[in-house]
Amino acid sequence: MPNDSHLHSQQFAVIKVGGAIITHQLQQLASCLAFLYHVGLYPIVLHGTGPQINNVLEAEGIEPDYIDGIRVTDPRTMAVVRRCFLEQNLKLVDALGQLGVRATPITGGVFKANYLDKEKYQLVGDITSVNKNAVEASINNKSLPILTSLAETDSGQILNVNADVAAGELARVFTPLKIVYLNEKGGIVNGSTGEIVSVINLDEEYNDLLKEPWVKYGTKLKIKEIKELLSDLPRSSSVAIIDVNDLQKELFTDSGAGTLIRRGYRLLVKDNLNDLGTKDALINALNRDSESNFKAEEYINNLKKEEYKAYGDEPLEVLAIVVKPNDSNEISYLDKFLASKDGWQNNVTDNVWNAIKKDVSKLQWSIPSNSDNASWYFGKADGSFTANGKILFWYGISDPLEIKSLIDNFISEPNNTTGGVTGSVFNGQKRNYSTISSNRLQSGLNPRFSNIGKRSFSTTNPNPPLKTGSNKKPTRVALIGARGYTGQTLIDLINKHPYLELNHIVSRELAGQEIQGYNKSKLIYQNLDLDELKKLETHGDVDVWIMALPNGVCKKVVESIESANSPHESLIIDLSADFRFDDHWTYGLPEFTSRLKIQNSKKISNPGCYSTASLLAIDPIKDLIGGQPSIFGVSGYSGAGTKPSIKNDINLLKDNLIPYSLTDHIHEHEISKYLGHDVAFMPHVSSWFQGITHTISIPLNKPIDSRAIRNIYQERYAGEQLITVTGEAPLVRDISNKHGIVLGGFAVNKNQDRVVIVATIDNLLKGAATQVIQNINLALNHGEYEGIPSDLVIRG
Ligand SMILES: *[C@@H]1O[C@H](CO)[C@@H](O)[C@H](O)[C@H]1NC(C)=O
Ligand SMILES: *[C@@H]1O[C@H](CO)[C@@H](O)[C@H](O)[C@H]1NC(C)=O
Ligand SMILES: *[C@@H]1O[C@H](CO)[C@@H](O)[C@H](O)[C@H]1NC(C)=O
Ligand SMILES: *[C@@H]1O[C@H](CO)[C@@H](O)[C@H](O)[C@H]1NC(C)=O
Ligand SMILES: *[C@@H]1O[C@H](CO)[C@@H](O)[C@H](O)[C@H]1NC(C)=O
Ligand SMILES: *[C@@H]1O[C@H](CO)[C@@H](O)[C@H](O)[C@H]1NC(C)=O
Ligand SMILES: *[C@@H]1O[C@H](CO)[C@@H](O)[C@H](O)[C@H]1NC(C)=O
Repeated sequence: MPNDSHLHSQQFAVIKVGGAIITHQLQQLASCLAFLYHVGLYPIVLHGTGPQINNVLEAEGIEPDYIDGIRVTDPRTMAVVRRCFLEQNLKLVDALGQLGVRATPITGGVFKANYLDKEKYQLVGDITSVNKNAVEASINNKSLPILTSLAETDSGQILNVNADVAAGELARVFTPLKIVYLNEKGGIVNGSTGEIVSVINLDEEYNDLLKEPWVKYGTKLKIKEIKELLSDLPRSSSVAIIDVNDLQKELFTDSGAGTLIRRGYRLLVKDNLNDLGTKDALINALNRDSESNFKAEEYINNLKKEEYKAYGDEPLEVLAIVVKPNDSNEISYLDKFLASKDGWQNNVTDNVWNAIKKDVSKLQWSIPSNSDNASWYFGKADGSFTANGKILFWYGISDPLEIKSLIDNFISEPNNTTGGVTGSVFNGQKRNYSTISSNRLQSGLNPRFSNIGKRSFSTTNPNPPLKTGSNKKPTRVALIGARGYTGQTLIDLINKHPYLELNHIVSRELAGQEIQGYNKSKLIYQNLDLDELKKLETHGDVDVWIMALPNGVCKKVVESIESANSPHESLIIDLSADFRFDDHWTYGLPEFTSRLKIQNSKKISNPGCYSTASLLAIDPIKDLIGGQPSIFGVSGYSGAGTKPSIKNDINLLKDNLIPYSLTDHIHEHEISKYLGHDVAFMPHVSSWFQGITHTISIPLNKPIDSRAIRNIYQERYAGEQLITVTGEAPLVRDISNKHGIVLGGFAVNKNQDRVVIVATIDNLLKGAATQVIQNINLALNHGEYEGIPSDLVIRG
């Protein structure tokens, strides 16, 4: 879970709106802000007014004058600036008012400033302080604060401040969860190529960036300002520069659109510790050692006698030391691995680890077996051995004799130089080796599943599971957009699948990090652009593309892959809602759509979780429907994704049930379209993590009893491994972590004109990831249920 408490203690977002957006995209902006307002979120909005000022000046025959991206503001220009700010502010506040949104115009009193350089720029301010009162009063009064970037001197002179700069100052004092700059171009455009720059890692790229010919004036100012801002905020902070149409997505899910600017990190590898940082910084980093009698200075002195390498990021959030023993037959050991909290949280640890791994082919290390971070080290090791309260780890060693000698050393030498990453030493005695666990030995297991509980086959199912599925060759899968719970669930299923292997995972945010939970090969998240994806397809490197992106961003990726001139046409499966209404795509619900059709498809849209359960619950009695079915659905909060929102705020969900999108939820349209009947769907979210329960009331067009209805379902779903039909109403907690769907209840009222059916499904599994695996299996002619445990509990 993300840290939801921030939503209460912290402002949600600072949004800087470029002036051109108020002229050209006011409606989009207002309706997005209205959405946030109506769900109880109050972003702080600050807007500019540059283009409007230039228009007025031009009409008055004045040439706008800039130095280094800053508008030189003489008194006459100032009058125009002020007028434009007030007009644009009012325009935005009015547009919000028309959507029932309370908004407070705040056109002064927030920023205090001195003259930036009175000679050079005249009436331009350099902000010295921010008064939060007006902004906080507005939010406490449940009204959106709408700010201009005008500032005042102590004596009350109004000064003009660049809106990017002012937005940065706001973000500095309010430290919001999200900092978003909206501009008309939808990001920072690389002047050399005309393309939007997708990520800027400031620590690594800033100096080079400033040398690019197109980084000048306002762009340069903006980048400089954001660099200064981010160096004052936690390392995890970032600024997104995006198009207004991506705003809602960016705030809730990280849209992947536009330009993401973050500090990033720069890794250093040195033969001499002193080259890594100042003495104070080194001692500070070394003092993170938890060993009670550890002395940093002494350690630094002793280290001089050894051959070693020191690894760290520039601010030394993480410091690692690998010592190379004098005897070249001995294996290098990790002597220190010390990280600050920030270093752990921001994965600097992983990045430093990867640097070591690249550099050192065989490594051993040890930690106390009660360490909080043992599981992290397990993930990094090929093998481990536990003795006397310590765990020995190693990687890169596969020769059993070498491993044996490593362990012998570990348990027999009380003062073993394999010092342990917390600074302590081994003092073990002989032990027996049965506790050895070698990750490498365990990989490659292909769990096969029993078919216990599978019912006998009946011919009344019009679309029974296919008996084909002979392909036992490996299928190469690329996962695009791996964030969120569904991405992780998919990685896990692919890891366990006998024939699927991941060969690319694309995630801009996680680029460079190692994939967790996947052990068939070592894989790093990549940041590939459209052309690189196209190349993979052209070269026939991928058999299946899984698109796990937010709604609305997948189209470009699909177009790029389709434009590749490849003899080898791959399968594309999209998890978003983007193609569920596109009849060129096959709707991939195997128990509902013809399996033969899925088997012969190259483009499959994976159904929504609520829709899967609803369609399977209603379709068998489609001919008996006598009015609009109503679906009351409740999902666990994993359905609301990993990014903080009111729908996954556990504090708000505690003892609570939150209704949302009460009409026209996208799944309402999806269900209606595929059922061929309009339905009413009312979604809710509640406090459990995974699983959906639907209570569905269906008016009947002729009297029929409960048993007869249940029989229809039993016959229809005979032979289906992932569907259970039961008399009782199923409970949502029984479906959590299971790969199927349970249908039950079948209560019919006394008049026999209404039936109520209860359906449960795990939204992450059969509602998403399991279904992806089924579809891949069908389309690539693996057995439909390969890699899917038959774990469904059959009740009643
Ligand atoms: C709060 O909102 C109400 C209703 O719009 C308004 O009358 C009142 O002046 C506001 N109070 C403050 C402190 O802004
Ligand atoms: C901009 O494009 C040029 C030319 O392709 C490239 O060399 C440069 O790295 C790009 N800059 C950024 C920040 O992406
Ligand atoms: C390695 O050799 C140096 C001198 O050559 C010695 O001072 C040091 O103690 C040796 N280290 C170990 C671990 O034996
Ligand atoms: C374990 O991780 C925490 C952060 O979760 C970190 O603060 C601590 O230093 C780590 N401990 C060790 C012994 O590496
Ligand atoms: C760090 O990595 C873990 C696992 O790979 C991931 O869950 C987490 O979001 C990452 N954190 C950051 C700040 O990138
Ligand atoms: C090793 O330990 C295991 C379990 O701790 C035990 O079953 C086995 O008999 C031991 N073997 C020897 C040779 O001591
Ligand atoms: C690799 O993943 C499989 C499937 O989850 C698991 O059974 C196996 O234990 C894992 N191996 C290692 C070394 O973690």
